[in-house]
Amino acid sequence: MEERNKTPRLFFFTIELAGTNHGMEETVVVTGGAGFIGSNFVLDWLGSTKTPILNLDKLTYAGNLRNLESASKDPRYKFVQGDIGDRELVANLLKSERPRAIVHFAAESHVDRSIHGPDDFVRTNVNGTFGLLEEARAYWLALDEDAKKRFRFLHVSTDEVYGSLGPNDPAFSETTGYAPNSPYSASKAASDHLVRAYFHTYSLPVVTTNCSNNYGPYQFPEKLIPLVILNAKRGTSLPVYGDGKNVRDWIYVGDHCTAVRTVLEKGSPGQTYNVGGRSEKTNIEVVEMICSLLDELSPSDLVIPHNKLITYVQDRPGHDRRYAIDSGKIERELGWKPKETFASGLRKTVEWYLAHQAWIEEVTSGSYRQWIAEHYSA
Ligand code: NAD
Ligand code: DAU
Repeated sequence: MEERNKTPRLFFFTIELAGTNHGMEETVVVTGGAGFIGSNFVLDWLGSTKTPILNLDKLTYAGNLRNLESASKDPRYKFVQGDIGDRELVANLLKSERPRAIVHFAAESHVDRSIHGPDDFVRTNVNGTFGLLEEARAYWLALDEDAKKRFRFLHVSTDEVYGSLGPNDPAFSETTGYAPNSPYSASKAASDHLVRAYFHTYSLPVVTTNCSNNYGPYQFPEKLIPLVILNAKRGTSLPVYGDGKNVRDWIYVGDHCTAVRTVLEKGSPGQTYNVGGRSEKTNIEVVEMICSLLDELSPSDLVIPHNKLITYVQDRPGHDRRYAIDSGKIERELGWKPKETFASGLRKTVEWYLAHQAWIEEVTSGSYRQWIAEHYSA
């Protein structure tokens, strides 16, 4: 009862709007649309389709409605603050909105946080996804045959479920075995397995994407690229874990959004699609590239050249050595390809952070400061 009383006001507002799709196409529901990738997806969606979109987001520290200021003026956009684990809320939303798809981004997403406190990761990523699947199944079962065929549950997942590669191993493909190593990746792997099971057992038309490291506008500065941009601007140290030679395969967030849209429209139920930008880089290469860009674009910062700030710090426990994604399947079968190279995407990203001081000020107060103080103090 306690929990129910917390159901946000906006929820009731939305229910009043029930069924009023303004004579437009059927709605798509996204979860976690106020986070980094989710908000890029909502903005991209409104800019490139005619379809209404409803964003269900709990607004944890990682969710920020500022990202969606332009969307909030669009009559096709609705926001509901709530937890994906609130089954009654989800059931009512599905009943009132009658979406043709659910695109599931909501998750706890930061590996370091999962090491410090895994509970929320299991709660949201595993139990939350389970509740969402159950409510999606109940909703889907009651649809007519035509709507049933069209419905999709798109689960957004990560390459981290595949574990860690050696230097000469082939890139992860859709048939690579799961070997998650952090509480974060284990919770995402568990959710992927549940999604898979709902297809095989109940025929719920699910599709899963497993994507590599994203970067771009609106990424919360606990993650490597925005953290380094911010610290370099402020003249504080740029923490590189271990020897800096861990490899990540980077993709510009806009390319990930296009991939998700492509899979939603053309992907086959029950299939998984790996998504990556074919841009493997060591962490130290990434940090050096950011420093060079800032030397050029922000030459009057406190410490120049910016790479003087690079500091090797204690490694992340269980730090996966290398990720690399083979995105051949989505390229061949669905015709998707990334547009940005790492150099073009990184330049855009650095320029975006330099031009959005107000956004940075807002997200780097409160819980952000506390996280930085606790995590980098050892
Ligand atoms: P993020 O942490 O920036 O955003 C997560 C969003 O989910 C936030 O808006 C948060 O408020 C919301 N949320 C968290 N718990 C919730 C709950 N219980 N109910 C409703 N909303 C909740 O994450 P991101 O980086 O945008 O990642 C989005 C998805 O993409 C995640 O599923 C992640 O695993 C996956 N992914 C991320 C990357 C990456 O590099 N960031 C790469 C591949 C896959
Ligand atoms: O691979 C996809 C995953 O990419 C997503 O599923 C996750 O949600 C997302 O957070 C990201 O995980 P990583 O752990 O790879 O991202 P992060 O930005 O935290 O770290 C990138 C690399 O940089 C990693 O090898 C750790 C290192 N690192 C990170 C931070 C925050 C540092 O060297 N110093 C740092 O301060």
